Amino acid sequence: MKIENEATGCLSRRDLIIGAGKIAAGAAVVTAGGLTLSSEVMARTAHEYKYVKLDPERVGQIAYENWYKNFCSYAVASGLIEPLRKEVGGPYNHFPLEITRFAHGGVVGWGTMCGTLFGAGVASNLIAGMDGEEITNDVIAYYASTELPLYKPKNAKLDRTPELSRSNSPLCHVSVGKWMKRSGKQFFTAERKDRCARLAADVAMNTTMLLNAWHDGSYEPKHGSQAKTHNMTAQNNCTECHGSNVPTP
Ligand code: HEC
Repeated sequence: MKIENEATGCLSRRDLIIGAGKIAAGAAVVTAGGLTLSSEVMARTAHEYKYVKLDPERVGQIAYENWYKNFCSYAVASGLIEPLRKEVGGPYNHFPLEITRFAHGGVVGWGTMCGTLFGAGVASNLIAGMDGEEITNDVIAYYASTELPLYKPKNAKLDRTPELSRSNSPLCHVSVGKWMKRSGKQFFTAERKDRCARLAADVAMNTTMLLNAWHDGSYEPKHGSQAKTHNMTAQNNCTECHGSNVPTP
């Protein structure tokens, strides 16, 4: 039985379900300090927030439209959670989706982690417990390595095919900056908003596909550990910040 999730020391969802069973049977399961609370919370999460497979197109359309309500992070989280409110109901109805709004602009405009990835992380960890970490890791890898946006909305708010760009990074600043350079459009324009709304749909759809596979039991994590690969926490585009003189960790 896998006890430790790399880097975090947390339990996987499968461990937690087994663990929850043992708690019910009165056995001492998790003794290592802080893990107790985390395992109980996550076991409860995996139990209560039931997942039914969602249609990625439906999720993408909600994410695209909701970008215009509360921006990127909310767009992705609500793209998944709104249909689950309809299909499953229960605890999804009480989850305060609006708290994800602050991550817009790479966290209130600081250009760090793209808000769409924050929203994907919230939704997938809520749904899949600790397996959500691996799903989030794969979604970030998809985001960084894919020319986006690809999504074609129904009733597009802007009738225009946006330029494509590959960020090579999960950072909002880098991703938006490369797209602004490629398109020649400034940040506060309808075109850039349209690009981010479509990109939110792409991220929400990718997350949905991974969660659907996870639900079927056919999900295999693809992307390895960033921290273990580089011997420190990092993005992969070292030379874009360090130039040719990348320091060795
Ligand atoms: C988004 C920009 C960015 C990216 C991408 C990035 N770094 Fe850095 N890194 C920095 C900054 C800024 C510092 C702080 C540098 C300083 O204070 O001199 C730093 C510090 C470091 C340090 C510690 C300082 C030192 O000189 O030893 C190491 C090691 C390092 N980076 C390695 C890497 C490697 C390897 C990668 C790619 C896997 C990478 N970085 C990607 C911006 C970046």
